Amino acid sequence: MDFTLSEEQIMIQQAARDFAQNELLPGVIERDDAQKFPAEQVKKMAELGFLGMMVDLKYGGSGLDTISYALVMEELSKIDASASVIVSVNNSLVCWGLETYGSDAQKEKYLSRLSTGQCIGAFCLSEPEAGSDATSQKTTALDQGDHYVLNGTKNWITNGNSADIYLVIAQTHISKGHKGINAIIVEKGTPGFEVGPKENKLGIRGSDTHSLIFNDVKVPKENRIGEDGFGFKFAMKTLAGGRIGIAAQALGIAAGAYELAKKYSKERKAFGTEISNHQAIAFKLADMHTQIEAARHLVYKAAWDKDQGNDYDLSGAMAKLYASQVAMDTAVEAVQIHGGNGFVKDYHVERMMRDAKITQIYEGTSEIQKIVISRSILRD
Ligand code: CAA
Repeated sequence: MDFTLSEEQIMIQQAARDFAQNELLPGVIERDDAQKFPAEQVKKMAELGFLGMMVDLKYGGSGLDTISYALVMEELSKIDASASVIVSVNNSLVCWGLETYGSDAQKEKYLSRLSTGQCIGAFCLSEPEAGSDATSQKTTALDQGDHYVLNGTKNWITNGNSADIYLVIAQTHISKGHKGINAIIVEKGTPGFEVGPKENKLGIRGSDTHSLIFNDVKVPKENRIGEDGFGFKFAMKTLAGGRIGIAAQALGIAAGAYELAKKYSKERKAFGTEISNHQAIAFKLADMHTQIEAARHLVYKAAWDKDQGNDYDLSGAMAKLYASQVAMDTAVEAVQIHGGNGFVKDYHVERMMRDAKITQIYEGTSEIQKIVISRSILRD
């Protein structure tokens, strides 16, 4: 077993760490407060190649492996999980899905723009009545010969307003259930397609989350990804990889909160000594460090599985389930170690605690990960 990162991976990790310190940290509290989308920072991340990390060079991507992607997600998320979710959705749910299952024409038309950050993408599966129960899609894409007509509403869509290209999951053959679902590329500005109001969120407030409304939206047939009826499998396959990205995001939030708590514990004095000298605090740090290391192994293992061409549904689900729990627990304890200072915004950990929560919800709640894991381990 070789746990060593390659020179290239270390370089990419360092580039992401520097970027997060120099470009994401300034203003992160203000962006969270104002729910401000980090447009300037996204542009710079595009220049660094972070928006199409795993995309082939011929489509403007960085041609890197999933481990490198996880390393970048971890570093960005230590500082700003709002910025990292934009990276995650664009890489795993949009670029990867298009590159793996899109037609040559779709790749030519959309992939380079997405991987170079000329525009960003959104993945549109969730609906008011189809969150975890994703097969219950109510949005329809009715077949009208050479085009589809879309009607319905999507909810909680990351990059909802900032995106230009939307991968929309919709029901074409209602009687066929999930086998009648399609994934369709919809461009912003298509008549009848409207972006709803921005959600006022607990965490990752810098990312823009919106509902989307489709009212007789006409989309050419060539915008369907894969064969007729492939849409649900497309969503499941894409989400399986997305979960590795979110697991890495959760790992980063945990590691970021832990680093701040450790630093604070060596500076803050109480009862005549630094609080790290009190066993109550030292033991918290020991637990955090151990759990983060365990989460890191699960995340890297899932990324490695994907890079090796192994099945990664199980390892990705385990990584997300565990890392998101560690993110939540670590962030809560980081606030506790900071005491009163942890409860105010300047020390960052309260934001991390709010940001951590979504990692247990999006791209499949923890309960959904347990469904995926239990079905997988009970299959044979
Ligand atoms: N790969 C390929 N196919 C898969 C699959 C996978 N990983 N998982 C399921 N499928 C297929 C099944 O094989 C089945 O097809 P067949 O009938 O042809 O065999 C079909 O999908 C339906 O599967 P199930 O019968 O297992 O369906 P289910 O309703 O019992 O459960 C589920 C499926 C796993 C619970 C699924 O609905 C699920 O993952 N739900 C969570 C949805 C989710 O993650 N939403 C996140 C929203 S996106 C988001 O958050 C993005 C963002 O903006 C950050």
